Amino acid sequence: MRVLVTGGAGYIGSHTIVELLRQGHDVCAVDNFDNSSPVVLDRIQELTNRTLTFHQTDIRDTAAMTDIVAGFAPDAVIHFAGLKAVGESEAEPLRYYDVNNGGTVSLLTAMDAAGCKRVVFSSSATVYGEPVYLPFDENHPCQPSNVYGRTKYFAEEILRNWQSATDGACAVLLRYFNPVGAHPSGRIGEDPRDVPNNLMPFVAQVAVGRRAALSVFGNDYGTHDGTGVRDYIHVVDLALAHIAALDFAARNEGTEAFNIGTGQGYSVLDMVSAFSRASGRDIPYKIESRRPGDIATSLADPSRANAQLGWRATHDLDDMCASTWNWQSTNPNGYGDG
Ligand code: NAD
Ligand code: WQD
Repeated sequence: MRVLVTGGAGYIGSHTIVELLRQGHDVCAVDNFDNSSPVVLDRIQELTNRTLTFHQTDIRDTAAMTDIVAGFAPDAVIHFAGLKAVGESEAEPLRYYDVNNGGTVSLLTAMDAAGCKRVVFSSSATVYGEPVYLPFDENHPCQPSNVYGRTKYFAEEILRNWQSATDGACAVLLRYFNPVGAHPSGRIGEDPRDVPNNLMPFVAQVAVGRRAALSVFGNDYGTHDGTGVRDYIHVVDLALAHIAALDFAARNEGTEAFNIGTGQGYSVLDMVSAFSRASGRDIPYKIESRRPGDIATSLADPSRANAQLGWRATHDLDDMCASTWNWQSTNPNGYGDG
């Protein structure tokens, strides 16, 4: 298949491109490096021994995107490009709506011009908001509680409306739970620009000595040890879910949402002890107050993806921690090391 990947230099995009190239697909990637580094492109090609086409372009530039889509003539698009920091989205809502929603409209306009009718979209479990019941299935009400979550929900709606107005189109909405881990080679991984917002990269930076201690945001939740429970999913499993989704999009018409998680929950302290085991390092931490907007537990029911995509997560918590540690310890400053 010929696959156009937006946000291809990012964390999840780069891991997905590796799996696409490995399986013999042809890839054209687009990224403006707003939150990524060009170094990742060399690493992808080195890991796969294959080349990819790349354009440094903003997805909101509809004229440029139209030329790129027409020139590459993809069978399908995987749309990762977007902004993803919850706190920043509350401070800069218009930028988030512009990139995540305006960018999606721009991409679909370019796809329409070239007659490309299949898209796989990076959505998020954050579209569900506060749980009404757990685990979340795809019919759970969507009541996102922050601007970032709303941009993901609105993008889903944009895709749904585009698909129903476009003969023969298919939109697959992948609602990721908590992506963690790195490629087992240690050559690509997650490289946050500033202080990490997410648990796993923060823990990894404490283990490698870049930060003194982890702040655990609350130990008074109704969970087995009082700390927040999440459904962590290995990024290579997540990458493979996109390939299964491309396959699904090639065989079906319509809009379908799928939870991409394991169905297994771990607390913050479970993650700290698993990472400490994998790295052989102490992870100092202090208990602090709850982070505003956090929920106690987020857990996927992944059975729809298991049944309809024929996809299932196979990596366990030890794989998630060992691969993160391999990446972090061999690239202590991420792609900044070149
Ligand atoms: P990332 O920031 O590493 O990757 C996103 C990429 O998009 C970056 O390389 C960035 O430079 C690029 N980009 C941003 N704005 C752009 C624009 N206007 N034009 C072109 N490129 C642009 O993030 P990620 O973790 O790989 O996430 C990928 C997608 O998955 C995002 O849409 C995110 O919302 C979604 N998602 C991520 C998580 C997570 O926890 N990582 C969870 C659920 C959903
Ligand atoms: C996990 C747990 C924290 C950092 C976020 C987004 C979501 C999605 C994934 C994109 C929670 C605790 C964290 C720290 C801590 N992203 N924690 N100390 O909040 O489940 O989801 O990323 O779509 O939209 O909201 O993930 O990794 O930030 O937190 O104690 O320094 O770790 O309170 O219980 P979250 P996270």
